[in-house]
Amino acid sequence: MSIHISANKEEIAKVVLQPGDPLRAQYIAENYLENAKLVSKTRGIFYYTGLYKGKEITVGASGMGFPSIGIYSFELFTEYDVDTIIRIGTCGAYTTDLKVFDILNVENAASESTYAKYAWEIEEEIISNQGNIFDTINATAQELSLQTKAVNIHSSDIFYRKDPNIPAIATKYNCPAVEMEAFGLFANAKHLGKNAATILTVSDIIPTHENISADQREKALKPMIELALESAIK
Ligand code: ADE
Repeated sequence: MSIHISANKEEIAKVVLQPGDPLRAQYIAENYLENAKLVSKTRGIFYYTGLYKGKEITVGASGMGFPSIGIYSFELFTEYDVDTIIRIGTCGAYTTDLKVFDILNVENAASESTYAKYAWEIEEEIISNQGNIFDTINATAQELSLQTKAVNIHSSDIFYRKDPNIPAIATKYNCPAVEMEAFGLFANAKHLGKNAATILTVSDIIPTHENISADQREKALKPMIELALESAIK
């Protein structure tokens, strides 16, 4: 048990898939894992452990934003000896060069957040994915004939803002899209010497307001979920 996860230590696998949404974790567990067991439901943040093609995998939510993914990923890495976390989430595109349903494998996450600096004295405003799992995801996508794009992402604290222009940091680091967690996950993994990747499906195009509707979401996220699971068992 850790402060925010009530599973016993042996109930969490070495590889964890981490969507933002607890109901997404439940969906993945119920539809992709054999013998899935709910191992933690503290604060409604569900964690399930089961088998995918014979290998033990845990899927559990991060919640939204750096404070939340910072807590869950840190406790998974330090209290449960997790080796690898693959975040699977959605992002908003700053440009119409990206299309809804596009799948992105995050190379680096750039942020204005002070999370990495004040947590770990990591001064950089851009942090790369950690370990080999990013490469494994790229190779797995090729095997599955799934097109993915390796990109830098803007990880932001802010969902709603006054200024409609693309934030300066996104322009500075050539980030075509925005989400709210990768930088925190990468910072924790970097500090702890662990493996971390982030796969994102483009759910909205910010300049045109086009978005994946609620009833399209389940189908839309399937390729990303399968890519994450196939990469996790490598
Ligand atoms: N995740 C999905 N869409 C997003 C957006 N527009 N901003 C931040 N995070 C997101």
